[in-house]
Amino acid sequence: MASERTVHVPVMVREVLAQMEFEPGLTIVDGTVGAGGHSQQILKKMDPTSRLIGLDRDPAMLARAGQVLQDPRAVLVQSSYAELDKVLDELGIEQVDRVLLDLGLSSDQLADPERGFGFDTTGPLDMRFDTSTGVSAAELLETSESEQLQAIFTAYAEEPEARRIAEEIVAQRRRGASVTLASELKALVERIVGVAKGKSHPATRVFQALRIAVNRELDQLEVFLHDVLLRRLRANGRALVITFHSLEDRLVKQAFREADLWDTLTRKPMTAAPSEVRWNPRSRSAKLRVARRLAPRP
Ligand SMILES: C[S@@+](CC[C@H](N)C(=O)[O-])C[C@H]1O[C@@H](n2cnc3c(N)ncnc32)[C@H](O)[C@@H]1O
Repeated sequence: MASERTVHVPVMVREVLAQMEFEPGLTIVDGTVGAGGHSQQILKKMDPTSRLIGLDRDPAMLARAGQVLQDPRAVLVQSSYAELDKVLDELGIEQVDRVLLDLGLSSDQLADPERGFGFDTTGPLDMRFDTSTGVSAAELLETSESEQLQAIFTAYAEEPEARRIAEEIVAQRRRGASVTLASELKALVERIVGVAKGKSHPATRVFQALRIAVNRELDQLEVFLHDVLLRRLRANGRALVITFHSLEDRLVKQAFREADLWDTLTRKPMTAAPSEVRWNPRSRSAKLRVARRLAPRP
């Protein structure tokens, strides 16, 4: 863990709490517990008979959550939210009443120089939420064809220079200068795209695309929305999902549009209040969608 002090500021907490519709005896799942920011506030609103199950794929984040969620009503499990079935089976829980997902990356992960999530860090390009499985970003850059990399940068970040960046990564590799560090990838993107004053750094998009690919983030979300959640969220239970880019938001919007399954409580996604955006710039792109699970038709 880079630093014991959590730098992550949870987004739209007021809106999340308002949409939770607290009542006695709830089982609430925070599927992306992170540093426990949302869960801490949820625990304050929960009655003594309710319980909270916090999941995160990243053991370092779970350790942070453990420091602030010391409460007998809270259980923390290292798991993807896509594997909620397994977690609930092991806990002997059939169905849950509320589910929160706050997708993407924590500021603590971004700041950790060992993880390679941030282009201003100097460490190895890993980018896995769970470093015990899967393929790191550096391995992906080392083993993928130029066309595959181009597809990743285009699909997950709409990067206009996707082809040139992908070709340069492969060319460097052939010259024996593989891109293995966050700083090397940042420098390569800067060389190709250039840095324009007043615009976000061009490496932002490439890093986002790689992270989504490495963690198969959209696959996880699809499985969860169309399969796991439908089985495990009780009728009349609520799902709350916060997304940070349009690809994720589209998946959530489409899933909640299934009129037989969901009563959408947010026709348009809720966004952070301007006052929040001022003191927490990360909230600028946050979108919260909420839906109530309908009872299956007899
Ligand atoms: C934006 S942060 C959540 C922050 C948290 N709500 C808080 O207030 O501290 C997203 C978290 O989701 C985790 N994560 C990403 N994909 C996941 C998945 N498929 N299953 C479980 N956790 C995941 C990341 O490791 C990260 O800690």
